[in-house]
Amino acid sequence: MIDRIINTGVHDQDDQEEEKEIEVTLRPRDFVNYIGQDRLKENIKLAIDAATKRGEPLDHILLHGPPGLGKTTMASVIAHEMGSQIRVTSGPAIERSGDLASLLTNLQDGDILFIDEIHRLNRTVEEVLYSAMEDFKLDIILGKGPSAKSLRLDLPTFTIIGATTRTGSLAAPLRDRFGMIHRLEFYTPSEVEQIIKRAAKILNVKIDKAAAGELAKRSRLTPRIANRLLKRVRDYADVNGDGIIDSPISFKALELLDIDELGLDTSDRRLLNAIIENYNGGPVGLETLAALTSEERGTIEDFYEPYLMQIGLLERTPRGRKVTPKGYRHLNKSPLPNKKQSSLL
Ligand code: ADE
Repeated sequence: MIDRIINTGVHDQDDQEEEKEIEVTLRPRDFVNYIGQDRLKENIKLAIDAATKRGEPLDHILLHGPPGLGKTTMASVIAHEMGSQIRVTSGPAIERSGDLASLLTNLQDGDILFIDEIHRLNRTVEEVLYSAMEDFKLDIILGKGPSAKSLRLDLPTFTIIGATTRTGSLAAPLRDRFGMIHRLEFYTPSEVEQIIKRAAKILNVKIDKAAAGELAKRSRLTPRIANRLLKRVRDYADVNGDGIIDSPISFKALELLDIDELGLDTSDRRLLNAIIENYNGGPVGLETLAALTSEERGTIEDFYEPYLMQIGLLERTPRGRKVTPKGYRHLNKSPLPNKKQSSLL
């Protein structure tokens, strides 16, 4: 249950469907309704205006950042603002270069192709994408061996919007083919509060200002989590109250979900505690941490760490991950003196 609220981790099919549906309902369609990411919006608006003025396709855009911050939403807003069609796919869904060829040849001039998890494209597909992105040509090889022929097809002028949780794992030649590379930042608590109020209005949920603020504080500065929490707290209010979300209701619901005042759940606390208890607060390497917590390395890197670092509970040093003094305080623990210090005493 708790995992489902906070984590991007394993969901069953029904949960995924329900969550997708809600996300689509709540997704802003245009820049006016898209709260936060102001600098990104300004940059993209400028690029859209310039491309429109010149009658050219919009440059390819790479969006990166932790999950749940609105990369897919931003792509659909861009398509809407351009008056373009958007096709949505993902790195792992494009298995062979033929899959990519069929996607690209079915586009029309000005279309947007959104590729989620673009870092998971395989090498062969990625190489076909290079010339497609660069000069709207598709290089295909027909046949095998000495009689193989290469063919160059003209493609419509499209825009790729790629999304990734890690730019680090994107091959440099692919990264270089994006005209714009932007990181989605964590939202401010006040932006998350506005997002919660907007979602509550759309879902017809009554929530008072204090409760919206409280939920915002515990949403890991992430809209997807804010919307999930809102739904769970609404359930609590419907069952244990009169459906109205006020401060006492939100406190009790969040307590039941075991989400603390900084938005950490049991898994976050387990991760910090593992470093403290086994490595005296660190530094500890990522592999060791993964083994210690039985979490995937990628989940730690993409999901747990960015937020824990953002709020200053964890730091990344050249020698590994370390719990900060603020992290210790949050867990009500005090750092043990290290050997050097104690020998000086
Ligand atoms: N719902 C999810 N993300 C949002 C955002 N950035 N603005 C408005 N509503 C949202």
